[in-house]
Amino acid sequence: MSTTLEPDRLVYLRDELLASGSYEAPLISGGVRCHGGFEADGRYRSPRTLHRAPAIAAWQARLRREDAGLIEIPRSLMPPQYPNVAQSTLLLRHDVRDPIVRTLTIISIVEGFGAIIRDVKVPELGALVVEPVEGTALAHLGEGLFEAHARDESGFRDEGGHKQMWEAARDLALEKPKIPGDVLMRMMGRNASRGRRPERPYPMIDETLERMLALMAQVLVVEVFAEGTFDWGVELLSNPEVSAAPEAAGNMVRFVRADEKPHVEYLRTALSELRARTLRTMDGNTIAGREVVDGMLHRILREITKNRPREQREDIRESLIAAMQTASNPKALLEEFDALESSWTAPGRTGFEPERTAAA
Ligand SMILES: [Fe+2]
Ligand SMILES: [Fe+2]
Repeated sequence: MSTTLEPDRLVYLRDELLASGSYEAPLISGGVRCHGGFEADGRYRSPRTLHRAPAIAAWQARLRREDAGLIEIPRSLMPPQYPNVAQSTLLLRHDVRDPIVRTLTIISIVEGFGAIIRDVKVPELGALVVEPVEGTALAHLGEGLFEAHARDESGFRDEGGHKQMWEAARDLALEKPKIPGDVLMRMMGRNASRGRRPERPYPMIDETLERMLALMAQVLVVEVFAEGTFDWGVELLSNPEVSAAPEAAGNMVRFVRADEKPHVEYLRTALSELRARTLRTMDGNTIAGREVVDGMLHRILREITKNRPREQREDIRESLIAAMQTASNPKALLEEFDALESSWTAPGRTGFEPERTAAA
C-alpha cells in the first residue's frame, strides 16, 4: 500500500478516507456482493481502510507523543450475551431455532441503524475548542470518518454492509430460516417504552457539540460491547454441529468483527483528543474536555451495565419459552437452558467517575 510511505501524515481528504483501493477478489455471499475483499494472499481487508487505517494510527501516535491518554472501555464492563453460546447451541440441538433467528435478525437490523451516524451535525470545532484541532481525528469526523462508518454498517450502492453480512451469516448457518414477522415491531415497541431523554447534561457548551459527543460516546460503548456479540456469533455459527456452513458463516462474522475495529479506534481517538483539550462555554468561560467526555461515558456505562442484562433477557424470554414448546420436553429443556446461564455482576465502578462530586 502506498500509504506506508507516509505513516506520520495527519491530514486527509474525504475521498481518501472513503477509499478501499483494489482487491484481488471481492467478498460475495449468497449472491450478494459485500464490501471489503481479499488480498492476493487470501487475507480479508476491510473496506475504506486504505488511508483510514494508517490515518487513525497516526492520530493515535500523535496522542501518545502529546502524552494524552487513549480512552479504553474495560471489557469487564461488558455484560454477557443472552442467550450465551452454550444456551444457543442447546436450543439449536433441540431444533428450537426461532430465538437464534430472532437474535441474528435483531443484530442485522441494529447494524443497519448505524447509518444514522452520517446525519450527525458536526459543529465548527475551531470556534468551540480552545486548542487547535488540525491534524486530528476530530477534524475529520465530518470529512469522511462518519460517512465511512455509515457505509460500513448499512452498505453503500451495490455493496452490502454489516446489515447484509449478518443476514448472509444467518441464512448460511441456518439455511435461509423463516424470519419471524414481528422482529422489527417488537424492537420499535421496546425502544419507545424505554424512552429517550432529551435532557442536556452539559448545557453550558454548544448544543450541537454536546449532541455529537453524546452520540459518539454512546456509539463507542455499543461498538465495544458488540465485540462480545461478535465472539458469540463466530463461535456459534462456526460450530458444525449446529451450523450448516460453519466456515462461510463463521468467516462472515469474523469479517464484520474486523471491520468494527476502525469504528472503535476512530471514536476513541477523537473523544480522547477532545478530552485532552479545553471547550469554550456559551458564557465565555471554559470547561475541561475531560470533564465532559468522562462524564458522558460514565453516565452511559453506568446505565448500560445496570440495565442491559435484564433488558436482553426480557426482550427474548417470552418468545424463547414459546419457541421451546416444539421440543419433546419443553420443561426439561428450559431447566437445562437456565442452568447454563452466565453469571455476571456489573463492576462497582465504570472507571470514568467524575473527579468532582457534581454532575455525576
Ligand atoms: Fe457494524
Ligand atoms: Fe460499527
